[in-house]
Amino acid sequence: METAENSLAKGDPLLEIKDLKVSFKTDEGIVPAVDGVNLSLKRGHTLGLVGESGSGKSVSTWAVLQLLPKSAIIHKSSSITFHCKDGEIAEITSFKPKSPEIRNIRGGEISLIFQEPMSSFSPVYTVGNQIMEAIRAHRNVSKEEAEGIAIDMLSRVGIPNPKRRFKQYPFELSGGMRQRAMISVALSSNPSLLIADEPTTALDVTIQAQVLNLMKELQEELGMAIIFITHNLGVIAQIADEIAVMYLGGIVEQGSRHDIFHDPKHPYTMNLLRAIPRLGKSEGGRLVAIEGQIPSPMERPSGCCFHTRCSEYIPDRCNVNVPQITQISPEHTVRCFLYES
Ligand SMILES: Nc1ncnc2c1ncn2[C@@H]1O[C@H](COP(=O)(O)OP(=O)(O)O)[C@@H](O)[C@H]1O
Ligand SMILES: [Mg+2]
Repeated sequence: METAENSLAKGDPLLEIKDLKVSFKTDEGIVPAVDGVNLSLKRGHTLGLVGESGSGKSVSTWAVLQLLPKSAIIHKSSSITFHCKDGEIAEITSFKPKSPEIRNIRGGEISLIFQEPMSSFSPVYTVGNQIMEAIRAHRNVSKEEAEGIAIDMLSRVGIPNPKRRFKQYPFELSGGMRQRAMISVALSSNPSLLIADEPTTALDVTIQAQVLNLMKELQEELGMAIIFITHNLGVIAQIADEIAVMYLGGIVEQGSRHDIFHDPKHPYTMNLLRAIPRLGKSEGGRLVAIEGQIPSPMERPSGCCFHTRCSEYIPDRCNVNVPQITQISPEHTVRCFLYES
């Protein structure tokens, strides 16, 4: 095992999502939530996934963990391959949501943290108890050993007096502390990939910055890859190596952090950049509104689905045809007629 783990290097392939399509069966009909997403992530790298609420960020990544509700359908053509620590390459879409294979991946390979740490902790058990349980679910250790690891994890995520915190209940911790505790649960299995779904959205800016710094430090130390999801490009700037911009279930632009911040191509990306909350304004993390309403996924606009809100809209083209992917540079792609020859 050890030799296999040691031979894994930063930059090796870790996750490839190909043509991911997810729909939901609802009373109103089929909701196409994710429509042909392609993403890849290398070991130890951080991918930022950004877009307004409803663009399919959570559905795309929760599919990787087979954590979607029963009403979700992952289309047959979709593929999600994950490179496990032991060298196995797992096709995640072939696993049933309750299968031992996906449980192994959720336990030891990929961890998830999300926005509401209060709801992810049970109110009736101590924080320590729940971290210990997470550790013992993935590692064959005694209660005493698990307690030692849990206290160590709590101190690693910067929780002062971890022995005391270990014995406390979730409501006794502040929001920032609970988020740190949740990170320690997620990291207790030593994952190769951490999916962070708007982990700082509910926190005030100061605590948000602390949690981001903590994640960066832990990444340096543990070498895990991160998919960081947010509706706020300002937050992504602090953490991502590569960025994918999503709109209505698809990726409209993808590139390095430098590409997206210094050479953005898609009009939607430019809108998001303009909407980055400035210091002292809209600090709660609410996005400054981009003009126009996000269409319902049930009424997806024809052609380029952003055309109804786009300032660069070309009549009879953008509303008629779907733009193809244009390669700006080897790492930088965009789906927009402005760049199609
Ligand atoms: N359980 C569900 N039933 C029906 N539609 C859903 C469900 N979950 C998500 N969706 C739809 O899928 C789309 C993508 O949602 P989501 O991935 O949560 O967006 P984001 O995380 O980018 O805010 C949205 O249109 C949302 O309404
Ligand atoms: Mg979401």
